[in-house]
Amino acid sequence: MALRQLLRTKSIDAILGEADREGAGLRKVLGPWNLVALGIGAIIGTGIFATIGSASAGDASRPGAGPALMLSFVLTSVVCGFTALCYAEFASMVPVAGSAYTYAYATLGELVAWIIGWDLLLEYAIGNTAVAISWASYMSALLEGMGVHVPRWLAIDYRSAARSPEILAQAPHVLGVPIVFNALAMLIVTFITILLVWGVKESARFNAVMVGVKIVVLAFFVLVGTHFVRPEHWQPFAPNGFAGIGAGAAVIFFAYIGFDAVSTCAEECKNPGRDMPVGILGSLVVTTVIYVVVGAIFSGLVPYSHLITLDESQRAEALAVAMKYVSMPSWMVGIVAFGSVVAQTAVLLVFQLGQPRILFAMARDGFLPPVFARVHPRFGTPHVSTILTGVLVGLTSAFASIDEMVDLTNIGTLFAFMLVAIGIMVMRFREPGRVRPFRVPLGPVFLPSLGLLSCLFLVAYLPPSSWMRFVGWLAAGLVIYAAYGFRHSRLRKALAPAVPR
Ligand code: ALA
Repeated sequence: MALRQLLRTKSIDAILGEADREGAGLRKVLGPWNLVALGIGAIIGTGIFATIGSASAGDASRPGAGPALMLSFVLTSVVCGFTALCYAEFASMVPVAGSAYTYAYATLGELVAWIIGWDLLLEYAIGNTAVAISWASYMSALLEGMGVHVPRWLAIDYRSAARSPEILAQAPHVLGVPIVFNALAMLIVTFITILLVWGVKESARFNAVMVGVKIVVLAFFVLVGTHFVRPEHWQPFAPNGFAGIGAGAAVIFFAYIGFDAVSTCAEECKNPGRDMPVGILGSLVVTTVIYVVVGAIFSGLVPYSHLITLDESQRAEALAVAMKYVSMPSWMVGIVAFGSVVAQTAVLLVFQLGQPRILFAMARDGFLPPVFARVHPRFGTPHVSTILTGVLVGLTSAFASIDEMVDLTNIGTLFAFMLVAIGIMVMRFREPGRVRPFRVPLGPVFLPSLGLLSCLFLVAYLPPSSWMRFVGWLAAGLVIYAAYGFRHSRLRKALAPAVPR
């Protein structure tokens, strides 16, 4: 009996019906351009401004791609492309909040749905923790350039600070214990949370402005960079062969995370059948082009032989380092640093927007207490889930280190992508006649299984420590499911009278 419940799926008609119920749904205000902008808002951020350094130079746990970073970008975009097609099919077929969580419930059953909902916390909330931390370091550098000094102990986590006795010495002490936490990261998360409670339409407008700024700033980097490129820096093209290209692809996967976040807004979309594929695929294509061009200019500015001499914090400011290497004026570097802060703010916004909608959908199904599914009477937003996400991300970013957060995010997201690809295949066989405004081309198996295998390929290039953390995370999720979700599942309760006693 218990096993049957774990594998029980929620019918798509029931999912659509619930979302349509008067008063239960979210406001439908988003059009295709809002969605492409939301996608770009989520995608371009910490990845292109920070992880590009490690991908190209490598680090203690992986070889660097060198100038072949351009190929790493293409490789990762192909992996994401398979998955984007799957997301587009699902999002247009089941246009409700919840994204991969909802799709899994419709195809693979309650247990997998819970696992993926729990797993998506890694992509959205933990991913945003990494972005908030990176935002804080760029912001304090930018403020410094403007003559405003933020003490280091207010913009870093304790463990990273512990590597620098100087920061610990500057920090105030209470009972002999140094006080070190990332107040800047907490501040930006608080600001974004307030904005999101206020309303999704207003947030989308704010996002559109930030997307414009980041595209202009990256275009600026490319235009001024073109004059300083030295083609000889593109040689040797792939200093570590395919191992470097693969490892680079697994690192800069972080730069692509976000196209799928568009699907979490399906319920707030005016015409999901047409707009979802446009939003998901459109934002992926646009960002791939931008990344390859930026990657080409970056590796033409600074040679691989110099990149490998950089320390961790320099690698994390890769574009700025490249500009300084060719002695560009500091105002130019300042513009790119400003763009980086704006870009990461936009990423924070989209993921803080997506996470509460997943919690909202899970609460609607009884996996979380009903308070998470409340919609604000005036603003029409899931305010309780939004505030909870803000508290979780804000507190974690105050104390966590960025590397661990990036690792966990990448593996969690790749796992979600794999389950979505499996879900598409299951659904095509189980409900072949269902209306699909958008279909993955070339049949039900070919491209989704390529998506599945290519995600596995990237996972293989991630450090094994990330595997261990991921397994620990899943185990914790199963304990919570056993303690709460299993007993409160609404599907189970709805079907209870049919179960013989
Ligand atoms: N793709 C997002 C970024 O690079 C997560 O910041």
